[in-house]
Amino acid sequence: MLTQNKKLLAWVEETAALTKPAAIYWCDGSEAEYNRIAEELVEKGTFIKLNEAKRPNSYLARSAASDVARVEDRTFICSENKDAAGPTNNWTDPTEMRAKLKGLFDGSMRGRTMYVVPYSMGPLGSPISHIGVQLTDSPYVAASMRVMTRMGEAVLKQLGDGNFVPCLHSLGAPLEAGQKDVPWPANEVHKYIVHFPDDHSIISYGSGYGGNALLGKKCFSLRIASLMGREQGWLAEHMLILGVESPEGEKTYVAAAFPSACGKTNFSMMVPPPAFDGWKVTTIGDDIAWIKPRPDGTFRAINPEAGFFGVAPGTSLHSNPNAVNMLTRDCVFTNCALTDDGDVWWEGLTDEAPAHLIDWQGQDWTPDCGRKAAHPNARFTVSASACPSFDPIANDPEGVPISAFIFGGSLSKTFPLVYEAFDWQNGVYAAATMGSEATAAAVGQAAIRRDPFAMLPFCGYNMADYWGHWLGIKDKVTSLPRIYRVNWFRKDENGKFVWPGFGENMRVLKWIVDRVRGRAANANECVFGYMPHYEDLNWKGLDFPKDKFLKITQIDDQEAMAEAEAQGEYFSIFGSRLPEAMENERKNLVARIKRPEAAE
Ligand code: OXD
Ligand code: MN
Repeated sequence: MLTQNKKLLAWVEETAALTKPAAIYWCDGSEAEYNRIAEELVEKGTFIKLNEAKRPNSYLARSAASDVARVEDRTFICSENKDAAGPTNNWTDPTEMRAKLKGLFDGSMRGRTMYVVPYSMGPLGSPISHIGVQLTDSPYVAASMRVMTRMGEAVLKQLGDGNFVPCLHSLGAPLEAGQKDVPWPANEVHKYIVHFPDDHSIISYGSGYGGNALLGKKCFSLRIASLMGREQGWLAEHMLILGVESPEGEKTYVAAAFPSACGKTNFSMMVPPPAFDGWKVTTIGDDIAWIKPRPDGTFRAINPEAGFFGVAPGTSLHSNPNAVNMLTRDCVFTNCALTDDGDVWWEGLTDEAPAHLIDWQGQDWTPDCGRKAAHPNARFTVSASACPSFDPIANDPEGVPISAFIFGGSLSKTFPLVYEAFDWQNGVYAAATMGSEATAAAVGQAAIRRDPFAMLPFCGYNMADYWGHWLGIKDKVTSLPRIYRVNWFRKDENGKFVWPGFGENMRVLKWIVDRVRGRAANANECVFGYMPHYEDLNWKGLDFPKDKFLKITQIDDQEAMAEAEAQGEYFSIFGSRLPEAMENERKNLVARIKRPEAAE
């Protein structure tokens, strides 16, 4: 046995007694082990080995049609009482839920191997990292965890007698004697993704896909870690982390939160336009940041993950060349289409689709068949170190000092391209009220789906308390990052996006860096905060005249007032738990809109 950790040994034994697996396997995290599991998955039909000449050491998996994404309506925060989970989370009494899950897990691993997967979120031994152990009956999950985390024997050594986050996962698809397995086992009827704040444990049942099953990701690194952060005085955030390096070698690190499917991976791997000769953007993380106040007076951040589990459709040489170039080998693709020469394809990868494919469900596909070839939530799984813009500082246990937090949603109007919040409290309010348009009705009435801090599906406790935690944490550092809101998605009168986005976002990022470095002091004050003047952005190499800039930075008073009113309605669902500062900030916005002369 590789560990003497009593809690771990007892938990493994107790779980095996309940779930009754045919075998127990402790993962060592070696390459040989990964290759062995991958071969077994090929034999079972879960993995299809891709053409070795085209995509070396890579595989395609196809999930069950009913198991293709995170299941937010089956995700629970089982705190002592409902109020602690808050109005934005599903809640069930923890005793009741534990009893229900015990019934479901009884014999749930029959005929399967239970993998013991010890893993570290973050560099081994970092003061910002934490350890988890996942028990799973899915070899696909065990293999994926080796890519997505630091996994195996070294973690057990690091753990010693220490504490860990217990993560129990079963596909809920036991194999009775003689029963033939299917390529993607899952439970068609029951799915539960459950978090217990009282002992920081996670129990997931019935799904083998992504965030439902790779428990180090959303379950541990966001829902449980956000709770730990509140208890211990740090932040677990749905944020990418990137570095901006100037031609002189000055490095500035920022963390940015966008709702799911708003291009976080693309932003984190951005290639600056040619006009930014000598500037570099480096990638530390694309999805999650753990941020702790450190003795040097800064917030220091790590990416707790070691790999990328990114959405494939839409990823192209135009939207994200670094991603395309990191996916050339050593990948697992899930629910992408298969080409006739044994490679993968997804919508957006090339302008023209191949004449024939096998789609994500294993059916023949032609461009005129009326179906998507890849599932819209098809994914790639790849080691972070494969990314050409990967910054090896991501492995530094000290983390990187964060100079700015950036928040953004997808909004066709009202919000400008970029603004800097007046101060920390105003920035927390800007992040708390962010969101994306849920619907764009023909007559222009677009409702904002609020996604505070991009944490709506990921906050492990009452969202109003989380805002309170953000307000309070500012006193723990002496070097306070500035807070920005960006909006790449303003549309013109014809419903067309005005801002080109992707690499051109570098122009905005550079202004943010200039601001935090004290080099762009002369900003344009608007009702929301400080914006750049047209002249403050570098326009070299981009034809973007001033009238276009005004189109995406002008703020309509009526629209701003309607937004402030909608925010008030949103705040009311949090009742007395809403921090007073949030409502004060909203009232201040209303007052600024009513006094337009103050803003210019
Ligand atoms: C993700 C998400 O998969 O946010 O990263 O949904
Ligand atoms: Mn995400």
